[in-house]
Amino acid sequence: MSPSPCTSSIIGTGSYVPERVLTNDDLSKIVDTSDEWITTRTGIKERRIAAADEATSDMATKAALRALEAANMKAEDIELIIVATVTPDMFFPSTACIVQKKLGAANAVCFDISAACSGFLYALQVARNFINTGTRGTALVIGAEKLSSLINWKDRNTCVLFGDAAGAVVLKRVCEGEADAPGRVLSTVMGSDGNLVDLLKVPGGGSACPITAENAESRPNTIHMEGRETFKHAVTRMSQAAEQALELAGLQKSDINMVIPHQANARIISAIADRLGLPEDKTFMNLQKYGNTSAATIPVALDEANREGRIKRGDVLLLVAFGGGFTWASTVLRW
Ligand code: ACO
Repeated sequence: MSPSPCTSSIIGTGSYVPERVLTNDDLSKIVDTSDEWITTRTGIKERRIAAADEATSDMATKAALRALEAANMKAEDIELIIVATVTPDMFFPSTACIVQKKLGAANAVCFDISAACSGFLYALQVARNFINTGTRGTALVIGAEKLSSLINWKDRNTCVLFGDAAGAVVLKRVCEGEADAPGRVLSTVMGSDGNLVDLLKVPGGGSACPITAENAESRPNTIHMEGRETFKHAVTRMSQAAEQALELAGLQKSDINMVIPHQANARIISAIADRLGLPEDKTFMNLQKYGNTSAATIPVALDEANREGRIKRGDVLLLVAFGGGFTWASTVLRW
């Protein structure tokens, strides 16, 4: 197959985190944990918690508005909105349709993607396929989560890990004559292993296990996780995906200027950096401030790296994620 003459370019980034900060010391007053344990095992120091009346779509809309402003585009210019989330406002309509309404993006086709922490990279690849094939010319790709709504605040194994946030990018079709456009997506690889669904899940609240008066007490509608197993699979799959995405882009590890990994655990990130032979200053990390915000971690980190000047035009960026499913993905960008 001859390569498509057109490609997708990220022309704006934006992010939003809620105001309320929940520190490790705050958590140690709720469950049997300590700042020392959480910091050593995860690298997380604090996380943001959305207000009771702040839904995933509210955070997504704020991040999207910032990305639109950075791209110098209006909401009506957007032809596709994909929201990656496991904490939608409601089962239906999609959070993307709610964001469409809040933005006034009347010309967009809208839907959600559920791939847990890999959701943003899955959504980016879906949008890229729409754009490269000419089905749509512009897209808003958003990763947004209110994970605090899925947390059992009595379970110290999980409640210390997660937070709330949203990040967004504006994607645009670029064709011949714009071969050096900034923010180009060079390659993406994706994978899934449904045999491991039970290692990380929210078992209740869906059609398999609706919440009833009888089961509500055991909190099936909260995150259940086998931490150690998840950790091992995350390191293996993310390292493999990163190497495959680089190869697909025709690049070497030494070409990478910055890795922007899913922000779950500092030890997972160090293990991946080691396997890729990259020094710490080429690995972006902000999980100390926000914890694991699932589909939001990568677009929030990309936006921060961009606005802080940590990445510059022409840099090779490697994005890599892993999450429930299990799912994993890696994307290479030429910034
Ligand atoms: N505070 C204090 N002690 C705790 C806490 C806590 N918050 N949580 C667990 N412990 C205890 C455990 O009970 C256990 O005690 P025991 O030895 O008496 O049984 C001990 O600490 C060690 O527990 P482990 O689970 O073995 O600790 P580990 O070093 O594996 O760290 C962690 C746990 C941080 C969850 C780690 O396994 C991890 O990060 N896994 C990846 C999971 C993840 O990030 N999932 C998110 C989605 S997927 C993804 O984003 C990659």
